[in-house]
Amino acid sequence: MSEAIKVSKDLYYIGVSDPDIRVFDIIMKTANGTTYNSYLLKTPDGVMIFDTVKKEFQDDFFSKLESLCSYDEIKYIIMHHLEPDHSGALAELTKRAPDAKIFISPMAQPMLKSIAQSDTMEFETVWTNKELKLGGKTLKFLSTPNLHWPETMSSYLLEDKILFSGDVFGSHYYDARVFDDLVGDFDYAFKYYYDHIMRPFKSDVVKALSLYKTLDIDTICNLHGPIIRNNPNKYIQLYKKWSSTEDRLHGKKIISIFYVTSYKNTKDMAHSIYDGLEADENLIANIYDLTALDEQNMLSILEESTGILIGAPTINGDVPKPVWDLLSCMMLLEKKGKFGGCFGSYGWSGEAVDMMNSRLKALKFRVPLNPKKIKLIPTKEELYECYNFGVEFGEIVNGKMVEMTL
Ligand code: FEO
Repeated sequence: MSEAIKVSKDLYYIGVSDPDIRVFDIIMKTANGTTYNSYLLKTPDGVMIFDTVKKEFQDDFFSKLESLCSYDEIKYIIMHHLEPDHSGALAELTKRAPDAKIFISPMAQPMLKSIAQSDTMEFETVWTNKELKLGGKTLKFLSTPNLHWPETMSSYLLEDKILFSGDVFGSHYYDARVFDDLVGDFDYAFKYYYDHIMRPFKSDVVKALSLYKTLDIDTICNLHGPIIRNNPNKYIQLYKKWSSTEDRLHGKKIISIFYVTSYKNTKDMAHSIYDGLEADENLIANIYDLTALDEQNMLSILEESTGILIGAPTINGDVPKPVWDLLSCMMLLEKKGKFGGCFGSYGWSGEAVDMMNSRLKALKFRVPLNPKKIKLIPTKEELYECYNFGVEFGEIVNGKMVEMTL
């Protein structure tokens, strides 16, 4: 158990530490552990709590809370995010402080009852421009959805210039010293966290940053890792840079072909498709043999590409592993507005191409063309069909309207 820590004159950190966790949410490595941050604001008219903690750490959370106030002093509970690492202690908190009113985003409403395990709690939904006043303090709510759940929101404590950013600007990095200017170098963890949690929602990050830009921010009270008070602008600018959709290609769209091949047949298809794409000088086509590409490079290429074409033969009735690796790393990307398509040569049953196509559709790519399948060695005519497949895919990515089947 540790003690509550003062963040500003009236605000206290009552979060908890999870130093031994090594994998978070199945996919994230947490070499330095993590924290579940929560805050308590004391005013002459009562107390506000900002988020709770993961259930297994709630005793520590309640102990800190009780060191600062009694439960009947708690007037409001602000829940910026309902994922269990922040809402795990909410059910117990609503039992102990039954008169406290909960503030959530409208999208959080369907989840709240089951998470708070209460039918009687009072709650209100809030969004940008709504305000809450208590004991001389003003809390302004900010709608920042999809960062990284649909119901996420932020808020800003006007008098103290504090942004409560939810998971935004977090990092999985435990250090008992709590503040960014006191802990070790956590930049790697800040970037890793962005890449895994915020990167798939870049356009929503940009919208949130445009709201944050209107605020004078001294301190960022996030939900994981060090509280940022030394140079908040540094971290805001990093998010801006990483989420930028800067048009370095002056309007030209990129289409990338990824393939694996056993006997060069799928490779020959890939190159004919590439030639078809290259026929349009307003496109930039790339072609990659997946067996020689590591995941970080895949991600950068995928991120920059508006169109993605994947080619593979069928091996033992399945898609070869390098393609599954490519398809699985797409969960870290924003897919909005991207086009996809598939092709491949096959010997017997040829299931791989349809499997890849279904996967792209499930990932919400727009898949305008039927997959291109060729039995064994492509003939000259079939390679010409591949060329035309490339031409047509390029035209669609560049704006030609077509009807798409689901
Ligand atoms: Fe830290 Fe999305 O929960």
